[in-house]
Amino acid sequence: MSISKLSKSPLRIGIAGAGFAGKFHQRNLRHLPAVTTGVTSVRAESRNAFSTQFNVPAFESVEAMLPYIDVLDICTPPSSHMPYIRAAAAAGKHIIVEKPFSGFFGSPETNSKVEMLAAVTADMHDVRELVAKSGITVGYAENIVYAPSVQREREIIETTKAQILRMTAEESHNGSHSPVYGIWSEQGGGSLIGKGCHPLGGVLYLKRKEGLARNGKAIRPVAVSARTHSITKLPAFEDRGYLRTKYKDTEDYALLHVIFEDGTVADIMTSELVLGGVYDFLEVFANNHRTRCLISPTRVCEVYSPNRKEMEGMELVEKISSNEGWIPADAEFGWGNGQLHEMRDFVNAIVDGRQPESDLDLAIDITLAIYAGYVSADRKGAEVEVPRI
Ligand SMILES: NC(=O)c1ccc[n+]([C@@H]2O[C@H](COP(=O)([O-])OP(=O)(O)OC[C@H]3O[C@@H](n4cnc5c(N)ncnc54)[C@H](O)[C@@H]3O)[C@@H](O)[C@H]2O)c1
Repeated sequence: MSISKLSKSPLRIGIAGAGFAGKFHQRNLRHLPAVTTGVTSVRAESRNAFSTQFNVPAFESVEAMLPYIDVLDICTPPSSHMPYIRAAAAAGKHIIVEKPFSGFFGSPETNSKVEMLAAVTADMHDVRELVAKSGITVGYAENIVYAPSVQREREIIETTKAQILRMTAEESHNGSHSPVYGIWSEQGGGSLIGKGCHPLGGVLYLKRKEGLARNGKAIRPVAVSARTHSITKLPAFEDRGYLRTKYKDTEDYALLHVIFEDGTVADIMTSELVLGGVYDFLEVFANNHRTRCLISPTRVCEVYSPNRKEMEGMELVEKISSNEGWIPADAEFGWGNGQLHEMRDFVNAIVDGRQPESDLDLAIDITLAIYAGYVSADRKGAEVEVPRI
């Protein structure tokens, strides 16, 4: 959509979801040509607290907020993403949507993985058509795409026309804080979708960029093999209390092997089994270089704190239990993992009428690779084709 179609400058953003993600999106909108003109959440308590903290009008629902915004920023649990995407697109509003883009929100007891993949594929067809018809811009909030280290690697690939031969990437930690995590009908799966979407997004993005730089055409995933496990449910698991447990019907470990259309590969690992904060990296093995993108921790600022009380409550780095000892602090919260930078691209892309770096096509490829992965895991790792939209 061109800038002339925007009702006002700065861009009016409405945030759906007043929790962890809603708050970091709000913080990261500062210094941009955008203003938050609304917030909503299902819980009056959380939307009112957000409204007071950030001086933003609270609305009872997304529908009530839509007339007052240019962009719906969806920071709600995954099962609500698709209904809100449809509502915003129908109203001609641009969309920013948190990960995972969408999924299948039935029960794994009553729905086969093949049915899930078919339903998600149909949804992806629909959403692509809807977005194309409404002429809106979709920013998929895959922050790893915007991590400074991944953007440096993108620049190296584009400048040297490198060919990526293989990649390894991981995101893991000791378990999500969300009370609805671990429930398939809310999250669309476990570690593979909840965390694996991040490193998967990073590798699909870089391979896409390689293809565009070398041949003017994105290189996309064609097939996957996957394994999933529930390690914290094993009778042999000895719980020392440091890892989250009690996932209802989702896995806590996944391995996804991705084959691209040029025959090159990427391997993704993800789990809820890692202590010591967020463990996030992406390593590229190319025909002319090798790059280790360290995402979390970044190791650009190491702080030593002799006593946890000195820096209590300071957000130096995500998901470590206390600010004591050596702390691999982020230079700024959200700097190393790209959360700080993604909002800038989304706002500027909408204002300039261009596609953002992390766009709808990337979101669709990630979603379909994940559900093809669930089909493969059901078949103990057999190769499964990734549907192509
Ligand atoms: N990119 C990242 O690193 C990152 C980090 C955390 C969360 N996320 C994503 O952000 C989204 C939200 O996660 P969170 O951690 O902020 O969760 P949260 O539980 O902290 O907050 C969710 C908010 O949404 C509200 N809500 C729940 N259902 C709703 C609905 N149907 N309609 C409107 N409001 C609703 C809740 O009241 C709450 O305010 C998820 O998709 C999650 O995967 C991304």
